[in-house]
Amino acid sequence: MKVTVVGAGAVGATCADNIARKELCTELVLLDIKEGFAEGKAQDMMQTATLLGFDTKITGSTNDYSKTAGSDVVVITSGLPRKPGMTREELIGTNAGIVKGVCENILKYSPNAIIIVISNPMDTMTYLALTATGLPKNRIIGMGGTLDSSRFKYQLSQHLKCSPADLNALVVGGHGDTTMIPLIRYATWNSAPVTDFLSAEQQQQIVNDTMVGGATLTKLIGTSAWYAPGAAGAALVESIVRDEKKLFTCCVSLEGEYGQNDICLGVPVTIGKNGWEKIIDLKLNEEEQAAFNKSADAVRNMNDVLKTL
Ligand code: 2OP
Repeated sequence: MKVTVVGAGAVGATCADNIARKELCTELVLLDIKEGFAEGKAQDMMQTATLLGFDTKITGSTNDYSKTAGSDVVVITSGLPRKPGMTREELIGTNAGIVKGVCENILKYSPNAIIIVISNPMDTMTYLALTATGLPKNRIIGMGGTLDSSRFKYQLSQHLKCSPADLNALVVGGHGDTTMIPLIRYATWNSAPVTDFLSAEQQQQIVNDTMVGGATLTKLIGTSAWYAPGAAGAALVESIVRDEKKLFTCCVSLEGEYGQNDICLGVPVTIGKNGWEKIIDLKLNEEEQAAFNKSADAVRNMNDVLKTL
């Protein structure tokens, strides 16, 4: 099994580090445009191999895509990260060109790869990857909802004073501060609805804090977060390479599901060796469906910007 992570910045390097620690592949390539950067990070990670006890071979490459040849899975993290006060959407102009170029280069050497998109604005970059490559829809997966759902579980665990591992919760819709929809009605604490244990105010607080989860960290750290985004990418790689068929919220192409067409948006999907394999059609109530439609409108407006670039 061979995996490539494009972009050796904080998110890409963290993702690669998680992939190696879990030995999800025998060969792992880290690629970056900055001279020597990916090689350096790959070497640093390889020097943890005997300490951490993994046997994945990590190599770095400065923009030489021939080194990525024959990858089964490719994670794209390239592009500018957010700065404090910036929305993910403001990155579209720069990141669209980068992501399109990366997809073209990757497919030259790995025509059968499954592509995981992390670059922001993630929903639009996923749509771009799908439309620019013409790949079968199941091979293009946007990571956003996986991260947002993990942040949602963290917020719930803080209020419930419980282990996040005991929680099930998902965030659907876009991966934007105002477009994501934490579905608290569906969230459970070891099968019991969390809404049984939280006041209406607490529920609202949890939803609000989840939605601005990324922005909160950007403000605190001074740049976009990386531990959870990197781990979310690696969790998807794991489900693919081990054909786990785990359920994650991912940004995928909708063809009538959730009442939407010609858009990539976050919905629950199973992830296995074929990429995303099945969309789980939740029975959203009227309010949730209205929020989903509004989220779709916002993402569609962002996708329209692609035509002007
Ligand atoms: C975040 O929410 C990187 O978009 C990512 O932190």
